[in-house]
Amino acid sequence: MATTHPVEILMTEHRTIERVLAAVENRLAESACSVFPYEFMTQALDFFCNFADGCHHAKEEELLFPLLEARGVARERGPVGCMLKEHVQGRASLATVRANLDGARDGSAEALGAVHDAAAGYLGMLREHIYKEDNILFQMAIRALSADDVSQLAASFIEPSNPRLSPETREQYARLADTLCAVPVSV
Ligand SMILES: [Fe+2]
Ligand SMILES: [Fe+2]
Repeated sequence: MATTHPVEILMTEHRTIERVLAAVENRLAESACSVFPYEFMTQALDFFCNFADGCHHAKEEELLFPLLEARGVARERGPVGCMLKEHVQGRASLATVRANLDGARDGSAEALGAVHDAAAGYLGMLREHIYKEDNILFQMAIRALSADDVSQLAASFIEPSNPRLSPETREQYARLADTLCAVPVSV
């Protein structure tokens, strides 16, 4: 059976992440004049922290990026370093959303504003980040990696004993993405 290119695996995950980004954007816009979607946002945070950052960024940071550096793609002042900085930036935005979630549910205008601002920043940053990976860094990866690199990297993306790389975790969060993208969701 032919190996699925690791870049294709990551791009498929990007499409799932983009669907959930759109669902969050729509849900927050719809809720501006109604009840804060606390349960939805709690589940969305779970998805972004444990799938987008956990499963997806783990493959990039622990497996793809080090291999690209070994094949001569620059880290400092290069595309890999830029992507790593944006991962850190995304974590800070998610932490702000999490810190203000209960306040937003309880009616604090300040907390609600902080959630909306941090979510908007995260949405914009991650969409651009994904665009840059798909169109720049991953295209460099396709050129830089040998056939052996491709098959070894694809194999390393699946590690049943590592929750961040297990097929079960991937399935679990694919189902959560479907749930989040299927409105309505209870608040
Ligand atoms: Fe990334
Ligand atoms: Fe990515």
